[in-house]
Order: sequence, then structure tokens, then C-alpha cells
Amino acid sequence: MTTATNTPTSRPAPAVGASHLRVEGRDKVTGAARYAADHPADGLAHGWIVLSTVARGRIRSVDDAPVLALPGVLAVLHHGNAPRLKEDFVGTFGPDATTRILQHDRVPHMGWPVACVVAETPEQAREAAEALTVGYDTEPHDVRLRPDHPGSYPPEATAMGPGSTDKGDVAAELAASDAVVDAWYTTPEEHHNPMEPHAAMARWDDGRLEVVDSTQGAYATARDLAQLLGLDPDAVRLRSEHVGGGFGSKAQARPHVVLAAMAATVLGRPVRIALTRQQMFSLIGHRSATVQHVRLGAGPDGRLRALEHTALSATSTVREFVEPSAAYGRSMYDASGHRTVHRVLPLDVPTPTYMRAPGEAPGSFALECALDELAERCGLDPLVLRARNEPAAGPVSGLPFAGRRLTDCFTEGARRFGWAGRDPRPGVRRDGRWLVGTGTAASSFFTGAFPATATATAHPDGTFTVRIAAADIGTGARTALTQLAADALEVAPDRVRVLIADSDFGDAWVAGGSMGTRSWGWAVRLAAADLRERLTPGADIPAGGLTVRASTEEAVRALAAYERHAYGAQFAEVAVDPGTGEVRVRRMLGVFAAGRIVNPLTARNQLTGGMVWGLSMALHEEAVRDTASGGLVNADLAGYHVAAHADVPAIEVHWLDDPDPDDPVGIKGIGEIGTVGSAAAVANAVWHATGVRHRDLPIRPDRVL
Ligand code: MOS
Repeated sequence: MTTATNTPTSRPAPAVGASHLRVEGRDKVTGAARYAADHPADGLAHGWIVLSTVARGRIRSVDDAPVLALPGVLAVLHHGNAPRLKEDFVGTFGPDATTRILQHDRVPHMGWPVACVVAETPEQAREAAEALTVGYDTEPHDVRLRPDHPGSYPPEATAMGPGSTDKGDVAAELAASDAVVDAWYTTPEEHHNPMEPHAAMARWDDGRLEVVDSTQGAYATARDLAQLLGLDPDAVRLRSEHVGGGFGSKAQARPHVVLAAMAATVLGRPVRIALTRQQMFSLIGHRSATVQHVRLGAGPDGRLRALEHTALSATSTVREFVEPSAAYGRSMYDASGHRTVHRVLPLDVPTPTYMRAPGEAPGSFALECALDELAERCGLDPLVLRARNEPAAGPVSGLPFAGRRLTDCFTEGARRFGWAGRDPRPGVRRDGRWLVGTGTAASSFFTGAFPATATATAHPDGTFTVRIAAADIGTGARTALTQLAADALEVAPDRVRVLIADSDFGDAWVAGGSMGTRSWGWAVRLAAADLRERLTPGADIPAGGLTVRASTEEAVRALAAYERHAYGAQFAEVAVDPGTGEVRVRRMLGVFAAGRIVNPLTARNQLTGGMVWGLSMALHEEAVRDTASGGLVNADLAGYHVAAHADVPAIEVHWLDDPDPDDPVGIKGIGEIGTVGSAAAVANAVWHATGVRHRDLPIRPDRVL
């Protein structure tokens, strides 16, 4: 066997920074790509989850006998007969009782899993599940988030740092300010709605639980599942080769995968469970509604003297999850009096969770709108106000910034958008029956890295295989990793095959926190570069290949302390029909400084997608909870409106050169920043068009009228 092809005489052009089609694109568009519910298995049985129809109480009875007599029904699992799960489960994201299902008779919210029917076909399972009679002893429930509720409390911590921060004297600074904004903002309950509903298949094979799941983190979900089931960590193998979106709802083990594993264990057969769109509205988490109070005080020059941001969100009685909206201002803007406070209220609702830009999305809506109001009070252009409030270091942390090109983003964005010469007066531009306005807001998202393990293998035919338990949830991660590996191996990308989403590949961070590509890419490059070193020109490669393994555990731990963020400036132009209250976004433009861009093609897709989400948040998305039943009245895509193609205008995305100082290739992360600030830019544009401040999302026609 010759190794000539392993030793190219000239280095190929760098793959990183060049547009590259998705390596799995063909498989996806031809239907060859298998998603979690597509995997076949011999003797496959199908589970259907039964959800509680009351919002609070106890299960009195599960009348399973008539259902067990129905055609094809194999089992009815409920709290009286289901396998026991670990009592004090501490998952990847901390203690979490949301997956302790069928373990007790308590019903904490409408839509809590109370049983799982398993049958030969999905139709039989569904029919039996709908026929199952569950008796309840109901208790009064409370699902209404309100600031005057006595049950709210300040949490010790949120997922984005401490529960509150306090610096200086906010009251004194407000009293001494020339311009003050004191306003309340609300955002509704929002749901992830990934294109692919959650699904899992579990089967026992030779003493190992083999699982296929739609998840953002194969390794983390496998470990969590093993712990829940009381199994050895290595006894669970979990794969998620293709995932159709997640947005945080697939960041951890969800009820469907736990139930599939339980059912497969009880029956000794492979079991698949696929959620319906409606079931997703109570089983996979959501973003809590928020009530936010912002107080800003500034001198006549617009420089902030006081910044106070208080954010209330709801959690369930099962688990404390705090939407960290007030954390947004901690790194964004400084003031002598600076206070950020969270409060959380446990209600009889499903447990909220991480949803794309947790905290930053609702928090930036409130704070970036409040800054627009402050600019109006000061008679300043919103861009000038922001430029005057650029901090020299982290306002709360005092740490230096690992790059902060926010002002550059605004300057470049203003130039491209055509902001110069904008008439600041609201409600004075007409285009036929439409009132027209423009608005802007800043974007920011923290960046970081988590340790990961990767292997790289050289094959005798001159190709390479890289393995890492990464997840590609539609972002193009697999393609980006192929490019990063190719450059480290000094070969063209078509000689590199990247295998992902298999827990057997070792520890790797989930596709979350905008840290996927950076965390995985680092490990992939390390393994690939190490392999490259070991390939001696002319030396034979054994038939089984030459494999090296690398971990970034130490490198990540050695990262210097910085305020690490990506930044952006967003602009929107809207037209408002004063007759119908309809708001149309005419165009949006974002300029981002978000680290080295690995693949411009997929990066642009992702940033555009984030901005569409922001538009959707501003104008459409709203889950409406019925206080009487405790359930949602619009738990489907007919009632829960997500922006469709007709709502999406021309969206332009640009970026500035902004390499992270510590990452080997300068990556920061682009997963979530696209959706930060976009709702504020739209709301600020609606004010500019109409002269009315909309502080409650979504900006529905009935609110505009
Ligand atoms: Mo994300 S909310 O980190 O999937």
C-alpha cells in the first residue's frame, strides 16, 4: 500500500472562511438522511404518551384493563407499575425532576405524562392512549404570572450567573439624572417548535441500551439516561445523526426518550416514541413569559448614571428554571448605579427551559427599547447614545473585553442600511396608507468553550475520519468541522469524513450556548494536527488506520478570564397600517462581530434565521394560557403563529473581522446572537412609524389599533 496520497506536495487552499455546501445536504434533500423516528428495528413497538388533563392534583386511578384488551396493545405503563428511576437525579444542567416521570401520583401541571401505552403500531397505541381513563383528585391551580404575586422570590443563581448584581446607589443616581426612563415590558410564553418533533427509539442489544434520539447532545443525554435508569454510564449508547432543529428544547433528556427506554426494558423489544406537535407544547420546555421593569437615568449628554433591570419569570413546581433576562445588561452598559435583579414565581405550569438566547432575547427587548426611549428623551440619535455608553471593561465583572466591536457594527450597519439623515420625529412618514419607520438595537451573546474529545484517523487510501459526539441540529456544524479538520490535516475537505452524534465517541458539549462549533472544532483541530505530525512522509499506514485522540480539557481550563462576547447591530424598517393595525417588516439588516466565520454560507443562514426568530417574537409568537383549565389554547402551529415566508422580508447579514484572542482559529460563536436585539429593533421602528411605544410583545394588530 502506498501512502503517496497522504503527503500532498502542496497545501490546499484553507477551507475555513470559504463557503462550503453542507456535506450531508444531498442526503437531507433526497430523504436518505435518517432522523430519530426513521430508524427501523426488528419487532419495533410504538409508545404513545398520555398527558394529564388537569393542571394540579393527584392521580386517583388508571383504568388500564379495558385498554389492555384493545387490539395490539402490549403494555400500559403508569406510576403504579413503571420501572423506578433515580430519586435525586442531577443531569447535565443540574438537578432536574422533569424526567422523573411515572414515579409518583402527583400532577404538577396540565400535560404532565401520566401513562404510556405501548402497542404494535402507532395507530393502535394512539387509539388506546386516547381511550385510557385516568381519574384525578384535583386541586386548585394557579398559572398566572403577575408581579404582585406573593409567591415570587429572588433566586440565588440563574443559568447566566448570579440571581442579582448591585453596584453603587441606583436611587441617588436616578434622582440626579436629567433624563429618566421608567418602563415595564412584557414578553409572552414562547415555544421552541423545531421542525422535527422529538422522537426516540430504544432497544436492548447484548446488554447495552442502544438509543436513537433527537437531541442536541448525544453524550450528555446518554449519561443522563444511564443515571436515571441506574445503569453503568457505558451501558447506554445514544446516537442522533440528523436532528431537525432544537433551539434548546433538545439540550437534555426529555420524557419521550426516558419512556422509550423504560418501555423497551419492560417489553424486551425495541420501542419508538414520537411526539406530536401538540404534545411538544407541554413536554419539552418553553420560554417563560417575562415581566420586566427597567429604570434608566442619564445626564444631558446621554451618559448613563443609573441602570436598573428587574425581570420576573415563571417556573414550575417541579424544577426551578429562571429566564435570565436581567443578565443582558451586566456586560452591555455601565452606570454608577447598576442593579440587575431576577425574580421567579413557581406556578402550576410545565417547566420552562433554555430557549434560543435564554435571557438575552427577552432581556434585550426590554433594555434596548428602554435605551431607544432614553435617546428620545435626550434628543440623541440612538447610535450616538450607544456610542457614548461604551464601557471600557465589564460593567459588573471589571474584566477586559475579548474584543468588543459594537460601535463598529453600528457604524457599518448605519452605512449599509442608510441611517444617516433619518428624521428622528415619530409618526411623520407615509407611504400610501402605511406609516413607515426605522429602528435599531444592539445584539450581544456570551462566547465560551467546553471541553471535548475527538479522534482523527488516517486511512491507507489517503482519506481521514474524524469522530466527535457533536450534534448538527441544522446549523451546518458537521460541515464546519469538516473544514476545520481539513485545514489542520492540510488536505482538501473532500478527503475528510466527519462522524458525529454518537455517545461512544466520548465527552463533548451539547449543541448549545452558541458554543458547539468552537468547543468541538478545538478538539477536532487538536486531534487532526496531532495526527498530521505523526504522519511520516513515505511511511505505511496500517490497514486499520492510524488513530489519535485529543481532549481540550486542559486547554479550556487554561482560558484567560475575559468578558467574552459576540456583538451586533440590527436595523429594521417597518410599515404600519393604521386602519388594520398590521405591522409589516420591510427589511432588516444585521452587522455582527462574532469571531472568525468558518463557513460564510451556513453562518449567513444561521444569523438570518435568528433575525427571523426576532421578527417572529416581535410580531407573532405567543402561547396563550387559559387560567381556568391551566392549559394552552393554541398548542399547535395553527394557533401559535411562527413567522412564515410571507412575513420574512429582505434580510441582510454582514460581519466584521473579529477573531477571539484565545481560540486557535478565532471562533466565537453565532448560534444565538442573530435573535438578540431584533425584536427591539422592530419595536423601536414601530414607535418611529407611529409614535406609540409598544412594550408588550407581540405587537399584534389589536394592540396597534
Ligand atoms: Mo440553546 S437555548 O443553548 O440550544
